[in-house]
Amino acid sequence: MNKVTDSIFYVGVNDHQVDLFEGQYVVPNGMSYNSYVIVDDKTAVMDTVDIHFTEEWLRNVAEVLGDRKPDYLIVQHMEPDHSASIEAFRKVYPDAVVVATDKAFKMIGQFFRDMEIPEDKKIVAANMATLELGTHTLTFVHAPMVHWPEVMMTYDSKDKVLFSADGFGKFGALDVEEEWDCEARRYYIGIVGKYGMQVQAVLKKAAALDIAIICPLHGPVLKEDLAHYIGLYDTWSSYRAEDKGTVIAYTSVYGNTKKAAMMLADKLRAKGETVEITDLAREDMAEAVENAFRYDKLVLATTTYNNEIYPFMHHFIINLVERDYKNRTVALIENGSWAPTAARKMKAMMENLKNITWLDTVTILSSLSKENEEQLDKLADELSK
Ligand code: FEO
Repeated sequence: MNKVTDSIFYVGVNDHQVDLFEGQYVVPNGMSYNSYVIVDDKTAVMDTVDIHFTEEWLRNVAEVLGDRKPDYLIVQHMEPDHSASIEAFRKVYPDAVVVATDKAFKMIGQFFRDMEIPEDKKIVAANMATLELGTHTLTFVHAPMVHWPEVMMTYDSKDKVLFSADGFGKFGALDVEEEWDCEARRYYIGIVGKYGMQVQAVLKKAAALDIAIICPLHGPVLKEDLAHYIGLYDTWSSYRAEDKGTVIAYTSVYGNTKKAAMMLADKLRAKGETVEITDLAREDMAEAVENAFRYDKLVLATTTYNNEIYPFMHHFIINLVERDYKNRTVALIENGSWAPTAARKMKAMMENLKNITWLDTVTILSSLSKENEEQLDKLADELSK
C-alpha cells in the first residue's frame, strides 16, 4: 500500500496507453491520474480517475479501506481525467457523500446525465469551508481557473497536506523516473499557463498555510524542497523568464530560413549564449511553447505563405498569444521571394502583448545575402547584450 502519511494513502493509476493527453500533448512517459484516501473516524476519497482505469482505481480504494466504506468523495476538479469515474464510484458506494463546489455540482449534472445524487448525499463546499474527519480537518480553498472554474484545493491541517488539484502536476507516469521541472513546466505552460493571475491568487492563499506535503492530481507527491516547486510556480505564473537564453523557433520550406536560424544560433553560441532552436513543423510544439516562456528572448523565423505566415508559425504564435506571452525580447526573421509580409503579419498577431522589446527585423529575399549575414551578426550582438 502506497502511504503518503500514516493515514493518507495514494490510490491513483498510471496511464501508458494515452496517445495524446487532453487530445494534443504527447506524453512519452505516460500520465498519472492521482487519487488519495484519507482514513480517520470518517474516510474520504480525493477525486477519481480517467474512465479507462476505473476498475483498477476502485480496487486500490477498496484495498486501503478494507472492510470500511468511504464516507466522502471529494471532487476537486471536474475535468474527466479526474472525474470520469464518479458514476462508477457511486454505484459501488451509493452512501458516500459527494463534496464539491457549486460549479462542480453543475458540471456533474452535465457530464452524468443519468446520475442523480440525492440532496442528503451532497455537500456544497463554500470557499474556506471545513470538513471534520476526526483528527483530520479539511479546508476547501476555491481555486477558480486552476485550471477550470469549479476547481478547489483542499488543505489538511493535521498532516499539513495541500491537495493541489492540477496545480504542481506534471506529465509522466509515476513508474518512470524523470526530472520534475521540465515536464512540470511543459504541463503548466501548456495547460494552466493562460491563468497566471489565478495561480498567483492561489499562491497567496497557500503562503498563509503551513504546507509539508503537496498532493497533486498528476505527477509525484512532493515532500521535500517545496520552496523549489513553489518558487517555480511563482516564476511561471508571474510571466517572468526562468532562465537567460534565446529560443529560435523557425519553419523552413526549402532550407533557406533554416540556414538563417542555424547561423544565428551558431553566432549566439560563439558568444557563450544559451540557445534552444526548434523546427516548429517537426518538433513538439508544446515544448517550443514551454521554452518560449522559459527563456527571456525569442526569435521567430518563417516564410511568407499564401500572403500569410507559414501555418506552423501561425499556430505557434496563437499558442503564445493565448497564454498571455509578455515581458520578453523578440526578433523576427522573414523570408519571401517576391512580397515578404510574414514579419508584418507576425507583429500584428502579437501587437497587444505587454512589455515586448522588439529588435530589428531581418528580411531575406529567397536566400541569405551578404547583407543578411551582417544583419544576423548585429542581431546576435543585440541578443547577447
Ligand atoms: Fe488534470 Fe484539468 O485536469
